[in-house]
Amino acid sequence: MSDTSLKATAAASGASATERFLTDKIGTSAPTDTARVDILATEIITALHDVIRRHQVTYQEYDALKSWLISVGQDGEWPLFLDVWVEHVVEEVAHSTREGSKGTIEGPYYVPAAPELPSVATLPMRAGEPGTPLCFTGQVTDVSGEPLPAAVLEMWQADDEGLYSQFAPGVPEWNLRGSVTTDDEGRFAVTTVQPAPYQIPTDGSCGRLIAAAGWHAWRPAHLHLKVSAPGHESLTTQLYFRGGEHIGDDVASAVKAELVLEPKPTADGGTEAGYDFALAPSA
Ligand code: DHB
Ligand code: FE
Repeated sequence: MSDTSLKATAAASGASATERFLTDKIGTSAPTDTARVDILATEIITALHDVIRRHQVTYQEYDALKSWLISVGQDGEWPLFLDVWVEHVVEEVAHSTREGSKGTIEGPYYVPAAPELPSVATLPMRAGEPGTPLCFTGQVTDVSGEPLPAAVLEMWQADDEGLYSQFAPGVPEWNLRGSVTTDDEGRFAVTTVQPAPYQIPTDGSCGRLIAAAGWHAWRPAHLHLKVSAPGHESLTTQLYFRGGEHIGDDVASAVKAELVLEPKPTADGGTEAGYDFALAPSA
């Protein structure tokens, strides 16, 4: 990939992720009461004071932090920053006692209302979409193993270059995004292509933090899913590929052992992988 297209991608993805969040999520959460805000805000600020004292933070470092925080906003990278370094702990706390399949972070690139598809379907893709064909099959059940017919499996993923439609320029609007409905037995069979490992944008503020700290910017290849059925808790999760790069050092800390697929090569040069989802009853 050329340097110019990488830059275009980073700028576009940050701004679009911010816009997406402001459109879909603001106003959906209940107001938090004063006592709760007091305790959370006080403890976060106190934790910061502790770090400053422990490490004898200088004025130069304080100004570098101030300038970096300002630039995260200017770059539209708050959704990226929070979803990579914070969301996984919120997810852990939210679902620690939930029965059924494991969830993990949503990340910044979910878009609702993707094209509706039947139980046996191919995700929208370009003619000659690059990448190894992947047949992804499975069943949605409740926690006792009862099939859930007409469950909805929303899928979104990066393409073979690690780009997400609607967040990278030049990719068709609904590329590799779809909303699949399961059959009478809760089953589905989706044809797609294997996603590439994904590098979070490196030329914005998050990339500058990564470079300054000597970290890396990679997430392992993954499929994103939201699985829902009436009377059940929706499951937001991701699936990874056994043996894939960065399974063990995901920048977003979102890999769980239960979420790793066992892809098998097929006779026609593609791969196939299966996964069954069990949904917890609604709270
Ligand atoms: C980010 C991107 C992802 O695709 C993901 O799954 C999680 C986080 C990000 O750039 O913040
Ligand atoms: Fe992702």
